[in-house]
Amino acid sequence: MHNNQYEQQYKQKVIDFFNSRTSYDNDYTIRRTLPLLELVKLKKGQKVLDIATGTGIIAISVAQIVGSEGKVIGVDFSSGMLKQAQQKIDELGLQNIELIAADAEYIDFDDESFDVIICSTAIVYFTDIPAALRKWYSFLKKGGIVGFSSCSQESCEAPLIIKVCDKHGISLTNINEPTGTPQKCQNLLREAGFKDIQVQSEQFGFYRSVEKAQEWNGGWFHPRENPLLQVSAEQMQELQIEYRQQIEAMATEQGVWYENLTIFTIGRK
Ligand SMILES: C[S@@+](CC[C@H](N)C(=O)[O-])C[C@H]1O[C@@H](n2cnc3c(N)ncnc32)[C@H](O)[C@@H]1O
Repeated sequence: MHNNQYEQQYKQKVIDFFNSRTSYDNDYTIRRTLPLLELVKLKKGQKVLDIATGTGIIAISVAQIVGSEGKVIGVDFSSGMLKQAQQKIDELGLQNIELIAADAEYIDFDDESFDVIICSTAIVYFTDIPAALRKWYSFLKKGGIVGFSSCSQESCEAPLIIKVCDKHGISLTNINEPTGTPQKCQNLLREAGFKDIQVQSEQFGFYRSVEKAQEWNGGWFHPRENPLLQVSAEQMQELQIEYRQQIEAMATEQGVWYENLTIFTIGRK
C-alpha cells in the first residue's frame, strides 16, 4: 500500500516520465547496464528477479544466459517501458521471461525464491532503500547474489540544479545522495546483511550540445520532498534562465559535459 499522498504523486510523476520515453533504448542506456551483468556472473538454470526492469535491457540478456531451464521475472510500474520490453521479448520468441506491472517496493515473493536479484539504475527512485534491500535479502536463496547500479552524487546535472535553486533560496535534496558514493553503496548492502561485497565504478558521461544541455524543464525527482512543486511560474522561469546561463558558461569546444559516473555494487546472501 502507498503510505502517503506525496509518495503517490511522486510515483505518478516517475511513471509519467518513463511512459513518455517511448524509445528508451540507445547506445548509452544499453552500455551502462552491461557491467552489472558481468559482475553477477549468471549461470544456466538460475532464477533471476530484475527489479524495475524498464524495457528489459538486462532481463532479456539474463534470459538468454540462464536459458530454458532458468527464469527471469521483470517488475516495473511504467506500462510504457514494459510495452517496449514485451515487444522485444515477442520478437526474440523468449519463453522464460515474465513481466509484472507493479510498484516494486510493495511486491512480495516467497523467501528464498531467487538465485540473483538485479536492479539497474533504479534503486534511487525507491522511498525506502534499506527496506527494499532487506526484502531482496529474504527473496534470495542462501548464497544468492544481489546487484544494483546507481549514479554518483555529481551525475545527471543534479549539482547544477541544486546550486541554481540554492542561489534563489530553494533547498533541494539530491535523489542520488543515498547511493551516490561507493562507500554508501557498500554500507547499504552490509547493513542489509550481505557479505562478499564488491563495488566498481565506470564513467558513462558524454558531451552534449549547449542547446540540448539547456533543456531543463524544471523537472526534479525526490521520493520524500520536492520544493520545486511549490514555486510560482515566474520563479521557475528565473531558475531556468539562470540554469541556461550556467550551462552556457560550462560550454567547451566539444559541448557541455554530462557527468554520469555509475557505481555497480554486488553482494552475497
Ligand atoms: C532508469 S530506468 C532503468 C530501467 C532498467 N533497469 C535499465 O537499466 O535499463 C528506471 C526504471 O525504474 C522504474 N521504477 C522506478 N521506481 C519504481 C518502482 N517503485 N516500482 C517499479 N518500477 C519502478 C521506472 O519505471 C523505470 O522503468
